[in-house]
Amino acid sequence: MKTKTLRGFRDILPEEIYIWQFVEDKARDVFGKYGYSEIRVPVLEYTELFTRSLGTNTEIVEKEMYTFNDRDGSSVTLRPEGTASVVRSYIDNALHLKSPVNKLYYIGPMFRHERPQKGRYRNFHQIGVELFGPIEPEYDAELINMLAYTFRELGISEYVKIEISSLGDDKCRPLYREDLIKYFSANKNRLCDDCNTRLLTNPLRILDCKNPECRKIADAAPSILDYLCQDCDSHFKNVLKGLDLVNTEYELNPKIVRGLDYYNRTVFEFTTTKLGSQNAVAAGGRYDGLVKELGGAEIPAVGFAMGIERLVLLIQEETNLDFRKKTDLYIAFMDSSHIDYAFKITESLRMKGLSVVTDYNDKSLKSKLKRANKLNASYVIIIGEEEYNNDQLIIKKMRSGEEKVIGISIIAEITPTHLEQMF
Ligand code: HAM
Repeated sequence: MKTKTLRGFRDILPEEIYIWQFVEDKARDVFGKYGYSEIRVPVLEYTELFTRSLGTNTEIVEKEMYTFNDRDGSSVTLRPEGTASVVRSYIDNALHLKSPVNKLYYIGPMFRHERPQKGRYRNFHQIGVELFGPIEPEYDAELINMLAYTFRELGISEYVKIEISSLGDDKCRPLYREDLIKYFSANKNRLCDDCNTRLLTNPLRILDCKNPECRKIADAAPSILDYLCQDCDSHFKNVLKGLDLVNTEYELNPKIVRGLDYYNRTVFEFTTTKLGSQNAVAAGGRYDGLVKELGGAEIPAVGFAMGIERLVLLIQEETNLDFRKKTDLYIAFMDSSHIDYAFKITESLRMKGLSVVTDYNDKSLKSKLKRANKLNASYVIIIGEEEYNNDQLIIKKMRSGEEKVIGISIIAEITPTHLEQMF
C-alpha cells in the first residue's frame, strides 16, 4: 500500500498553515472593503467547460489537465483554474438578474499536471477574484489597486512588480496577429520547434517563450500597444490613469500574453525576482467574451488570481513576521490526584475566552515548563500540594519568570487583560 502523496501534491502542516490563514484573512479583509463576497464552486467540472474557456491550443488543455471518465462515462476534469467554474456558476444561477454588478472571490485548490519545482505544484491553491458586469476601465484599475493593497497588507509589496498591457479586442488583435505571423515567419529558422508549432496555432505565445534565441527575436517583434484600436487604446489609457491616480506603480510590458485564451484588453501580472523561475505571484485581466461564449448573456468581466503557495514562500523568505501560535495559559499540576481539579480549572478558563493547554500526565514540573515554552504560553498556572490545600494557585509569567500566588476565586473573573495586570 502506498502512503505517499502524489508527485507535486503536498501536505500543509500546522506550522505553515498560520501563514496561509494570515494570507486568507488579509485577502478577505481587503476584498470586503471593495464590496466582494465569497463564492464556493465545485473542484470537478465537465471537461468541456475548460476546453471551451481556456482554449484547445493552450498548454493547460493540451498537457496539464487531470481528466478522467466519471462512472457514467462523461469526461470530467479537476479544475486547473477558477475563472471557468465561476463563470459557469454565474450563468447557471443567473446572477446577472440579481445584480447588475457581481463582485466575487474564491479560495481553493487547483490542479495542473506541470513539472513540479519550487513554487510550482500539481495541486496548488489560488485566491481569485471575478467581477461581472462593468466594462468601464475604472473597474480594471480598482481591481489592480485592490491587489496592490493586498500585497501591501501582506508586507511583500516591495518584492513585487506590476506589469501590465492590453491585448486589444476582436477588431484590432487580428491585425496585430497577422503582422506578428509575418514577422516571426521571416525569422522561422531561428525559432525553437515549439514556437514553430505556435506560429501555426497561437503565434502570440511566441512572445512568452523562455528559449533565449526566441526571446531575442520576440524582443524586436511588433508591439500590440501600437495596434490598439481607438476604443481599446482609450480603455487602456484610462486603466493606467486609475493606477496613476493613487500612485500604483507599474511597468508596461506588451509581451504579456497570458496562458489562457479568454482574455481581451487589460492583462496584468504581479511578478517577483525572489522565487526563481516561478516569478508570477498573481495574474489576471479582462475576459469580456467568456460569459457569452459559455452560453450566458453578453456580460463583460475582469479578474485575477494569486498563487497562495508563492505568497507564503515570499512571506517566509522575505519577512520576519512571527506566525508561531500563542497559548495564553499552560496548567501544570504536580500530583496526579489533582487531575480532576486541573481538568475543571482548564475548562472554566477556556470559557473565559483564554486559550489553555493542560497535559494530563505526571511528568515533572521541569518537563511541563518546557512544554509550556514550546507551546509559546504567556503564563503557567502551577498547582502544587500546598497551594491545593489552601485554595491557591501559583501563576508564572513566562517572559520574566516572575511568580505570584493567587486565590482560586480569581479564576472566576480572569480575562486576558486581567492576566497582564497581575504583574
Ligand atoms: P494563471 O496565471 O494561470 O491565471 O494563475 C494565476 C496564479 O496562480 C499564478 O500567477 C501563480 O501565482 C499561481 N499558479 C499557477 N499555476 C501554479 C502552479 N502550478 N503552482 C503554484 N502556483 C501556481 C489564472 O488561473 C486565471 N484564472 C486568473 C484570472 C482570474 N484571470 C481572470 N480572472
